[in-house]
Amino acid sequence: MPALGSAALVVDEPRSASAIVGGEFIGHHLLHIDGYSRIKNELPTGKSIQSRTFIAGGRRWCIHYYPNGTRSEDADFISVFLSLDESAGGPVKARAKFELLDRAGNPLQLESHATDLRVFSPGGSGYGFNDFIKREFLEKSEHLLNDCFRISCDVIIPKELHTEDRIVSLLDVVPPPDLNQHLADLLKSKEGADVTFQVAGESFSVHRFLLAARSRVFKAELWGAMKESTATGDCIRIDDMLPQVFKALLHFIYTDSLPQMEEQEEAAMAQHLLEAADRYDMQRLKLICEEKLYRHLDVGTAATTLVLAEQHSCRGLKQACIEFLKSPDALEAVMETDGFEHLTKSCPVLVKELMSELYLFKQCKRRKLKT
Ligand SMILES: *[C@@H]1O[C@H](CO)[C@@H](O)[C@H](O)[C@H]1NC(C)=O
Repeated sequence: MPALGSAALVVDEPRSASAIVGGEFIGHHLLHIDGYSRIKNELPTGKSIQSRTFIAGGRRWCIHYYPNGTRSEDADFISVFLSLDESAGGPVKARAKFELLDRAGNPLQLESHATDLRVFSPGGSGYGFNDFIKREFLEKSEHLLNDCFRISCDVIIPKELHTEDRIVSLLDVVPPPDLNQHLADLLKSKEGADVTFQVAGESFSVHRFLLAARSRVFKAELWGAMKESTATGDCIRIDDMLPQVFKALLHFIYTDSLPQMEEQEEAAMAQHLLEAADRYDMQRLKLICEEKLYRHLDVGTAATTLVLAEQHSCRGLKQACIEFLKSPDALEAVMETDGFEHLTKSCPVLVKELMSELYLFKQCKRRKLKT
């Protein structure tokens, strides 16, 4: 019997992670000016009153409010300055941003009042705006309510660029779902396939349970009462469908997505698949096809698409086609196409509907020209 603990323990190199961190620290202070007129009449140009001090980024700051401006040239303005308190500590690099708030407390979108990055010295006069708000503007605005208004001040302090450790998860990252890939592999390999479809001479081996799960029509055909009538043994023949359409249908059944296609073949494939989706009652596929046909709607396709929409009860797509054909230029161009011939034969009622739209439109236009 081997000695316990003889198995070698394999230790991988530990994985590690770190981050380079930039960013900025932002502190906010809200300054209420309560009794605007009284303060204005008390303090002449060049005189200020301080807010309470507040802490931002670990330092103490205050705002200087000059109701009649700082200098004679801006005596018509309110000036505001941010300064660093003289309490211990060295200078700080920061930006000051001031905003006038409306009644709801949202900043007014005036021009930006943010300083560049400045070195604030403790006890210094600080940085701000001599011409923050014109008093006349404020007094005429609705922002001054009961002689009060508010200013918000942001102190923006860039962080020292630095690096720090990050924790590494011992588990691998969970990858995105891959059921569709596995089922696509199953369709390709045919492993475990238990029924074969014959479509115009081509055979497709597939998995009964999956088709039954995805379409109630297939379910009835494969498991239900219809089984005896359509299936001979484990081979089922499908008439009036192109093999490439059945192939695309299977791709959708297995993966819930359409196969890759060229832009040109997309419209034609969407027409065929719409029919198939309707036949097998696959609503999501049907909507995907409608959306593709809508994107390909033009003079060349409008008439055929309208017929298709009508035959397979696609309300949205039908409406889109009619909107498209309501433009007389578009309708006249579409009338030249083969698709229109098809439309006239298969849905004469729709053509009548369209003609009356066009007639109304022309009458409107004539009336407008007269006036
Ligand atoms: C501030 O300016 C206003 C004019 O907008 C003036 O009426 C007021 O007296 C000034 N305040 C002082 C203390 O000079």
